[in-house]
Amino acid sequence: NGNGKTTSKDTSWIDAELADSFDEELEMEIDDGRMPEELRKLKDVTHESTLERQTYFHELFRLQAELVKLQDWVQHTKQKVVVLFEGRDAAGKGGVIKRITQRLNPRICRVVALPAPTEREKSQWYFQRYVSHLPAGGEIVLFDRSWYNRAGVERVMGFATPDQVEEFFHDVPEFERMLARSGIKLVKYWFSITDQEQQYRFLVRIHDPIKQWKLSPMDLQSRARWEQYTKVKEEMFERTNIAEAPWFIVEGNDKKRARLNCIHHLLQQFPYTEVPHEPITLPERVFNPNYERKVL
Ligand code: ADP
Ligand code: AMP
Ligand code: MLT
Repeated sequence: NGNGKTTSKDTSWIDAELADSFDEELEMEIDDGRMPEELRKLKDVTHESTLERQTYFHELFRLQAELVKLQDWVQHTKQKVVVLFEGRDAAGKGGVIKRITQRLNPRICRVVALPAPTEREKSQWYFQRYVSHLPAGGEIVLFDRSWYNRAGVERVMGFATPDQVEEFFHDVPEFERMLARSGIKLVKYWFSITDQEQQYRFLVRIHDPIKQWKLSPMDLQSRARWEQYTKVKEEMFERTNIAEAPWFIVEGNDKKRARLNCIHHLLQQFPYTEVPHEPITLPERVFNPNYERKVL
């Protein structure tokens, strides 16, 4: 079928494409099957996913198709979008970010996950290293953790002084209002998981060699300092929940529901409409008979 056209009767490729999507999602999902029975018992069973696999896939693919429409609209109307993903370690931020970006154009929708600040960055204005990643018109930026580190990990671990934390709380509402006034749409999510579920997810990470990289010294401390994290989180909500950019809480114990809920909610934040496209036909290919190809 080299001319780029498919006959109207032949729909088998749709099934093949769908199967391919299932495979891709399954590869990401396979994690959950990689644990011994004694670990599985520790899972917070009150939050065991009640979603049928098929319902999950069906809804995920539908939402991902909507995300493509959102992307088109953002590009076409030159919107500037910032989404912050915050929450406890292992709450599932990374998983939902992967599913949001999976079918999108990385030039339009990109992820920013900054490491600990360097000495040079520490000497700068606190927001500076985040500002350089903000979107231009027609871009969506997903922050996997954000400037809220100062209200969370930096505060709990003592990487910021009490004065710096206080200054942060003073500055952040004004900072976010400036973003809003400049035309940036800012959406803030907090992923919430229970104590027991976090314990379980960390044990899974310890057990699984392909997940161990996710477990940092910071994470281990977040187990020990659970209560402290709860306290600082509550103060963060109280002091940074502004009308221009309120916090939205995603219940994270059920990973699949959390992903669907979050993407569904995100889509609702925008009055996007489908951008009409001209029908596309592929050009004829010109063959060069002298071209030798090496096949693996
Ligand atoms: P993640 O949970 O994102 O995989 P880590 O658990 O290693 O990464 O760290 C959690 C957060 O704490 C990260 O956003 C990281 O930048 C921040 N962080 C780690 N060490 C420091 C530090 N010394 N000063 C400030 N922030 C830090
Ligand atoms: P979070 O800190 O939002 O990730 O929440 C983790 C778990 O602790 C969830 O089950 C919350 O309902 C619970 N939780 C968080 N803060 C409090 C609190 N102040 N009092 C009681 N339960 C809490
Ligand atoms: C998550 O699962 O919340 C993210 O991957 C962050 C982490 O690795 O702790």
